[in-house]
Amino acid sequence: MNHHHDHADPPREETQRIRLEAVSKRWGSTTAVDGIGFTVVPGEFVILLGPSGCGKSTTLRMIAGLEPASAGRIHIGERDVTHLPPGDRGISMVFQSYALFPHLSVADNIVFGLRSRKVPRPERQARLARVAALVDLEAYLDRKPAQLSGGQRQRVALARAIISEHPICLMDEPLSNLDARLRGEMRREIKALQQRLGMTVIYVTHDQVEAMSMGDRVILMQDGRLVQDGTPDELYERPASAFAAGFIGSPAMNLVPLAAAADGAVIDGEPHCNVAPHEAAGQLLGVRPEDIRVLAEDATGVPARVLDAEYLGADSIVRLEVGDQTLRARLDGRPPLGAGAACRLQWRREATHFFATEDGRRLEIAGHDLAAPPGRRRFATSRSGPLSQQDGEARASSNQVGNDTPGVNR
Ligand SMILES: Nc1ncnc2c1ncn2[C@@H]1O[C@H](COP(=O)(O)OP(=O)(O)OP(=O)(O)O)[C@@H](O)[C@H]1O
Ligand SMILES: [Mg+2]
Repeated sequence: MNHHHDHADPPREETQRIRLEAVSKRWGSTTAVDGIGFTVVPGEFVILLGPSGCGKSTTLRMIAGLEPASAGRIHIGERDVTHLPPGDRGISMVFQSYALFPHLSVADNIVFGLRSRKVPRPERQARLARVAALVDLEAYLDRKPAQLSGGQRQRVALARAIISEHPICLMDEPLSNLDARLRGEMRREIKALQQRLGMTVIYVTHDQVEAMSMGDRVILMQDGRLVQDGTPDELYERPASAFAAGFIGSPAMNLVPLAAAADGAVIDGEPHCNVAPHEAAGQLLGVRPEDIRVLAEDATGVPARVLDAEYLGADSIVRLEVGDQTLRARLDGRPPLGAGAACRLQWRREATHFFATEDGRRLEIAGHDLAAPPGRRRFATSRSGPLSQQDGEARASSNQVGNDTPGVNR
């Protein structure tokens, strides 16, 4: 589409920037959306992510004009659209349910909007041919929706949004009816199409994999509020709260309470190994499963015992008992140890996160480095191999590290 290169059109910047200012939606005593504010720049793929009922669809519907806002302002480009009807907002929308007309052919479903906008037939046909090729539906134009697979129906819904040539497209869980394999394919197709056409997309999902893989930016919501607004990297590397930490990543980040010890903080019920400075006592420590190394019993690190292990093919999820807590580690390949085995856990200082027990907010505390010094094993995490390959190395480094390893009480 590349509208912005066409000098006849105003710059995309002016027409496609979407800006929400303190937007709220109330139904009686229910507050579905509570003072949400964010900006979507032209050409961006932004995800609204959050658990069921957090207000994602309501936010999207307010942007589309299908639901009036109770408070706040919505701008599209230079225009305040807060009170404009949907048809005047220059937006197309794809719903989870596809909303196809069962009695119309695929072709008629796709051009339905153009027809009601009185676009002349030759232009309709030309646009239909273009869009059908784009989403690979040329062979199905005469069929009825009931004669299509879920993925094909999904593409009809997409085609209908694309053919409108509105530069802004809002999508509400468009892939939730598809099986896992098709979802993966459609994720890539939608993303590629968005980039090819330079569309501005706001995409609602509760699936963090979709959010991480498709979004240029992810807006995480909880109970109608904005929890974090950042790139997928930022949400993964620096979650703003314990909720955000638990929502992004699978299995979720381990979150364990810390107790005070003689000269630092220890995992509740495991008094031997300092894992954090004293100020972290009473708060929560977060470590991602993929950042934990599982080492032999005589290595340095946090003493742990294997509860069970789940082999997933490329990797395994090992559940570990540490003091009163259960942690998960994601290890490459087969589980290195069976249930009941004693071991030690390590992680790097950069892999630690701290959150307030009281309200879950992120705390700026520098964690301890339980792994060997940088240079020797900088990238040695559980991602780098099972115990059997690291055993010797772990032994060697545990000797070598000796008392330099911070926080290990002996
Ligand atoms: N028409 C309505 N009247 C009253 N409450 C509503 C209405 N529509 C939605 N709600 C409530 O507003 C809240 C947010 O709903 P919304 O549909 O935006 O959630 P969501 O994040 O899209 O969830 P899901 O992932 O389940 O689709 C929910 O508590 C819901 O029950
Ligand atoms: Mg919804």
